[in-house]
Amino acid sequence: MKLSVHGVPHISVRTAVTAGLALAGLLATGASAATAAPTAAPAGQRSAAAAALAAPDIPLANVKAHLTQLSSIAAANGGNRAHGRAGYLASVNYVKGKLDAAGFTTTVQQFTSGGATGYNLVADWPGGDPNQVIMTGSHLDSVTAGAGINDNGSGSSATLETALAVARANYQPVKHLRFAWWGAEELGLVGSRYYVNNLPTADRSKIKGYLNFDMLGSPNPGYFVYDDDPTIEQTFKDFYAGLGVPTEIETEGDGRSDHTPFKNVGIPVGGLFAGADYIKTAAQAQKWGGTSGQAFDRCYHSSCDTTANINDTALDRNSDAVAYAVWGLSGETPEPPAGTVFETLTDVAIPDNGAAVTSPLTVSGRTGNAPTALKVGVDIKHTWRGDLVVDLVAPDGTAYRLKASSSSDSADNVIATYTVNASSEAANGVWRLRVQDIASSDTGYIDSWKLTF
Ligand code: TRP
Ligand code: ZN
Ligand code: CA
Repeated sequence: MKLSVHGVPHISVRTAVTAGLALAGLLATGASAATAAPTAAPAGQRSAAAAALAAPDIPLANVKAHLTQLSSIAAANGGNRAHGRAGYLASVNYVKGKLDAAGFTTTVQQFTSGGATGYNLVADWPGGDPNQVIMTGSHLDSVTAGAGINDNGSGSSATLETALAVARANYQPVKHLRFAWWGAEELGLVGSRYYVNNLPTADRSKIKGYLNFDMLGSPNPGYFVYDDDPTIEQTFKDFYAGLGVPTEIETEGDGRSDHTPFKNVGIPVGGLFAGADYIKTAAQAQKWGGTSGQAFDRCYHSSCDTTANINDTALDRNSDAVAYAVWGLSGETPEPPAGTVFETLTDVAIPDNGAAVTSPLTVSGRTGNAPTALKVGVDIKHTWRGDLVVDLVAPDGTAYRLKASSSSDSADNVIATYTVNASSEAANGVWRLRVQDIASSDTGYIDSWKLTF
């Protein structure tokens, strides 16, 4: 019961505009256009393109802070981090502590070599498809001659910092991510071979790629890409092409690092290498800078492999390349294009003090459920909006109250955007705006309404 005090009801002579079909995708925002997948790229290139958008920059300072810690660990333990020495287990515990704090599930695998206990550290990032694993590894042991900062504190630290970046980003890739730090590589790939040999056969085929990083900061660096799995190789080449830095195929000979046991059982492998005891040629110095006629790492396996034995530029680029490959090869779950508007412009008359009417709106081409914050834009012309009860009805019939009636709400029109948690509703289907006028004398119509996904 109300008094109609607000003048003559305005008579709409508005002609019905277009047919009330959803305008799917036409009103996508600029952001969604920018993230649209390239259409015709081969799979490897597409994953690389996605990684270019998604992979974080790995802070060089963080990688170098890990090198400083490994250097201190060596200094406190007789000058090395070699298999069977205290400095090795201390290195494992340093890396493990960081990973545990970041939310990884870590496992220490023990083995015996040369009468001493060795350790592999394996860290799983929870989530992703357990039948599709992307594994990244680096050996954590040094030779006994020194601290092993380039060989292989560099790869170990870049791998660690990439894992920590995964945690910082709360990255949720399609594939499962596993990281490993190998023991006793310097005794002949002992730890990685032990891991592969003890991996159940069924689990081998789940590892869709193994990425190896051994020596990433050589002081007279080269930029070498392992010539193995073509997709992994292309991912690294794409990264370096993006920087405008030429690469070469790794030619120091296969079998010199921890990718070998994986490769030998048919797992796709790849990796990066900045060079060891081979000599940089004049042509290589021409394209990469540095000193020709000198080893890539003159301190390889020597006591001078300290924190001074690192080229920051090479370590920085290679660390970013590790993250680029981890992201690009594991398949970030694509963000659904946000901001697509489905709208109907068909007028629906609302009978005065009568039965509810509905206006249908078909949503198609979406995957999964509706958003937790589904925006419902309503444009109802009416001479006393307090008469109106307005619901959003999901395709399965579930109703969400947008607005209740109110005898004191005498304003015109319902022109508003409501937010509904519709995450339990399938996105696709026929949605309805349901409107009922529950009091006599004032009237109106649904002018248009829309859903923004
Ligand atoms: N850790 C390896 C080693 O001591 C370093 C190395 C030398 C390497 N040549 C390589 C790693 C080629 C990868 C590829 O032998
Ligand atoms: Zn090494
Ligand atoms: Ca009325």
